[in-house]
Amino acid sequence: MDEVTAFAPGRVNLIGDHTDHTDGWCLPMALTMGVTVRGDRVGGAVALRSDAADGLALVPLDVTEPAELEPAWARYVAGVIAELCPSVGLRGEVTADLPADAGLSSSAALEVAVALALGAADDDPVGLARICQRAEQRASGVPCGILDQLSATSGVAGHALLVDCAELTTTPIPVPDDLEIVVVHSGEHRTLAGSAYAERRRECEEAQARIGPLRSATPADVAALDDPVLRRRARHVVTENRRVHVAVEAFRAGDVDALGELLDDSHRSLRDDFECSTPRVDAAVERLRTTPGVHGVRMTGGGWGGCVVAVTEPGALDEGWRVEPGGAAWVSVREAGPSGPRTRPR
Ligand code: GLA
Repeated sequence: MDEVTAFAPGRVNLIGDHTDHTDGWCLPMALTMGVTVRGDRVGGAVALRSDAADGLALVPLDVTEPAELEPAWARYVAGVIAELCPSVGLRGEVTADLPADAGLSSSAALEVAVALALGAADDDPVGLARICQRAEQRASGVPCGILDQLSATSGVAGHALLVDCAELTTTPIPVPDDLEIVVVHSGEHRTLAGSAYAERRRECEEAQARIGPLRSATPADVAALDDPVLRRRARHVVTENRRVHVAVEAFRAGDVDALGELLDDSHRSLRDDFECSTPRVDAAVERLRTTPGVHGVRMTGGGWGGCVVAVTEPGALDEGWRVEPGGAAWVSVREAGPSGPRTRPR
């Protein structure tokens, strides 16, 4: 019986939200915090307990309707099984040092760790991310992009990742040592399933049907949209894509003032044009933004609650999580062979 340990990181998106589903760019950072799955590869089902959620996730290997399972966290496990079709089950436990429902991609981390524990190939980060993106969509019914899963499979320690969501490439961008990245919970918990995420995606698609791909649209293209709602949604995406590229330059130049302004602009755009913030998230952003030593702050992730991310001078904030850029997901298998167990790292 093989014993397996798999870890996948959460992520914080530094800038570039709601750009992945129209093939744009984003700048996430995999975290050192994440989700670990430990267990034995055995039997015809997956049976997992979690230290972060109640109930037993008991999922047969021939599961067909992941979204109907209880407890709710079992749906993500089931989504992975339905995509991966493993021939052997898994019995074990999930541990997490990442808060759930916070916009830090705990569900993507769970999917990637479960997939690796079940034997998904660990040398194809894009393929693994796609499997887990489909798993998330099946589990939650939310037509999410690939940002979260690709961050978990492709993280590079000490770096943020410039993600091109059309090419599915990731370029590591060093995070300067004198910057602190702090994630603060707004106090408002949310799941994307109950949000307007799908409606926003539809609006972006409608805008693209009228003016072509938002990835290459210009401000003049956006201005030509006569529907004011579609114009605001498209303006967010087009300006946010640009902010991602300028932020990469600011990172490279160590220009923290420019970076801070970009984060602030990004938040305003998500709040006013994409309308995916909330009064409570806005209040957290305002409070932190005016704290001495904070360069910039914005909501992060899908929105409608969850966390905000601040880029600060060292020691400026003494709340939330001071997050470090972590590496990619990994798996370690202790194989039970004829000559006894041996360990195969990665
Ligand atoms: C959620 C989705 C991602 C992405 C973000 C917003 O986290 O899962 O695909 O769309 O929202 O940037």
